[in-house]
Amino acid sequence: MILIDDQLTKRENAHIDIEDRGYQFGDGIYEVFRVYNGKVFRMQDHLDRFQRSADEIGLQLPYGLDRLQSFLEQLIETNGLSEGNVYLQASRGVAPRSHPFPEESRSVLVAYTIEGERPLEYIRNGIRTITEADIRWLRCDIKSLNLLGAVLAKQKAKEHGCQEAILHRDGTVTEGSSTNVFLVKDGQLITHPANNLILHGITRLVVLELAEELGIPVKEETFTLEDLRKADEVFITGTTVEISPVVQIDDYHVGDGKPGPVVHRLQEAFEKQI
Ligand code: PDD
Repeated sequence: MILIDDQLTKRENAHIDIEDRGYQFGDGIYEVFRVYNGKVFRMQDHLDRFQRSADEIGLQLPYGLDRLQSFLEQLIETNGLSEGNVYLQASRGVAPRSHPFPEESRSVLVAYTIEGERPLEYIRNGIRTITEADIRWLRCDIKSLNLLGAVLAKQKAKEHGCQEAILHRDGTVTEGSSTNVFLVKDGQLITHPANNLILHGITRLVVLELAEELGIPVKEETFTLEDLRKADEVFITGTTVEISPVVQIDDYHVGDGKPGPVVHRLQEAFEKQI
């Protein structure tokens, strides 16, 4: 079953109007939630970010977050989802094609579940990455449906036999195409500040909390491709990759090419939360 607005219905019964603004303009927002053992991880944080994204683009959600939460829980239970993801999106609705917000339209909300195991291969052995210019817009803090910049970067990574593209603006690293990026130098974590140039990742936030608990110092500061090259460890965070070590960047190995001790400590602490 899937959720459309306030109805749980079969996927076959769902139709996207050709004039849905999400479809035509990417005029909408989304979230990806991780489900562990039938429970959504950090549900409230994701819902709050969804609301914030909606507010930032002036999109009126069809109903409140409490109601949304109970629909999502119903969806997970109905589908018997134990391990996997929930995809949720809201578009500004259906209206004759014209760029400004329509006078009359109702946002269209869709959610569905996707079964899937945790990416243990990435988590244990790490991932390979390329670096790529960040050509996205200047409001990457909004989780908008416009993902072409991310799609092109990820495709390029794939063509190079890699799993992620680490993006940079004039040599300053921002984030991955669908992840946040951390480096470890002399026992300290460094990650891009949560401003308009990155998505304020929930997993990023969890890592900041865990680092504090573990007494690992953190700086939320910008760093360069050169800093990345000199890092002891690099890792990415995201709902779908959790905390995954980066073992290769372009044509060089990070550290000794194996996941390092700091990322291990964070991963262990993360496991206890899920
Ligand atoms: N991506 N940065 C970007 C650009 C992202 O798209 C994501 C999430 C993250 C990590 O955020 P979080 O820890 O809240 O998942 C960072 C989702 C999973 C996606 O598009 O599939």
